[in-house]
Amino acid sequence: MASDARVIVYGATGYTGRLICEELKRRSVPFAMAGRNLARLEAYNKELGGAARGISAVPHTVADLTRVFRGHEVVINVTGPFGLLGESVVKAALDANCHYLDTTGEQDFMLAVKERFGRQAEEKKRVVVNANSWYFGPGEAAAHYLRQRFPHLDTYNIVYCPLGTPTIASTQSLLRVARRPGFSWIEGKLEPNRGLADVSIQVPGEVLSKPAFLMPGGEALHFASEPGVRNVRVYMASELVPRFVRLVRIWTALSKVFGDLLDPLGDRLVLWFWKTPPPEDPAQTRFVVMAAGESEGDRKICVLYGSRPYVITGVLCGWAAQRLLAGAHKRVGVISTAQAFGAEETLEILREAGTSHRVIE
Ligand SMILES: NC(=O)c1ccc[n+]([C@@H]2O[C@H](COP(=O)([O-])OP(=O)(O)OC[C@H]3O[C@@H](n4cnc5c(N)ncnc54)[C@H](OP(=O)(O)O)[C@@H]3O)[C@@H](O)[C@H]2O)c1
Repeated sequence: MASDARVIVYGATGYTGRLICEELKRRSVPFAMAGRNLARLEAYNKELGGAARGISAVPHTVADLTRVFRGHEVVINVTGPFGLLGESVVKAALDANCHYLDTTGEQDFMLAVKERFGRQAEEKKRVVVNANSWYFGPGEAAAHYLRQRFPHLDTYNIVYCPLGTPTIASTQSLLRVARRPGFSWIEGKLEPNRGLADVSIQVPGEVLSKPAFLMPGGEALHFASEPGVRNVRVYMASELVPRFVRLVRIWTALSKVFGDLLDPLGDRLVLWFWKTPPPEDPAQTRFVVMAAGESEGDRKICVLYGSRPYVITGVLCGWAAQRLLAGAHKRVGVISTAQAFGAEETLEILREAGTSHRVIE
């Protein structure tokens, strides 16, 4: 089908791809859909009332993807796990001269994209935003917001407190992340996270503290590159952390035996045993994200309260695509959501999507 759409969603028939298409439709942004299965794409477009201006089933090769992306301005990539599928899509998007947004939560993939495509994106004046999603959009925005208001803060701890059930590809991504060390930004350098820090975190407004561990956050790559930022650590805090840590320990031990073979094995296990969750229920998917900025003798905290992280990912992608079409981006290159579109603007769109924030001084 020929397309006059300026945005193309690759992976449109997945759980998050659908939320993004719905958001684009809600915003009246003309878009096309791409994916690996024509029948699924056509059936979904029918459900959407034929909102997509074009549909392409495409083999996952750089040449085929480039051909399908050409003529569009923005590619939104929602095919995961990104460590397996992502690089070809970034390459194809840039080869087709498009801006690129994705929803990854995989820090190693983000690092590879920054290293391999950073220069090319800048030369072509294209924006590449990895993790234009719940992980790690809100944490980045909160940290940037604090830094803008209190430029003396130089050390940041960012905490994600999630609730809810991950989708199939999210679970595959989580298993890939779990067997890789991950990095934090320590004294101006990327340092590998050693072991699983056994800490507990007090979330403002909650009575009990939550068990937490150091995770490979996108903020340690992007926000950390801002001048004057010395330390960035990202944590996940949840009652489920002890169980998750046990799983990570088993997975890391297996990784020593099976090496990279564990990735496809994990993908397959998830496909056998995991099910796509139902639409997010706000009561079951409440989250808190916070960024605590410190300097000698001072601390400020920006806390966000919201629900439905997957819906928020859809909103962030629809909004970011619209900003790119309007030429409203602030920088080019491989950058974060807040760097591309502004911290206050990102917090505002999160607020519209039901996520409130407050600063504790
Ligand atoms: N960072 C965050 O906060 C955040 C939020 C949401 C999603 N995500 C990430 O986004 C990715 C997608 O998530 P999801 O919720 O949409 O998962 P999902 O429902 O399992 O969908 C996975 C998508 O990837 C496509 N896909 C899988 N293998 C493929 C292959 N070999 N070739 C081409 N396409 C392939 C699927 O196509 P079919 O429809 O044809 O099966 C589907 O569109 C995951 O990596 C997830 O971690 C991250």
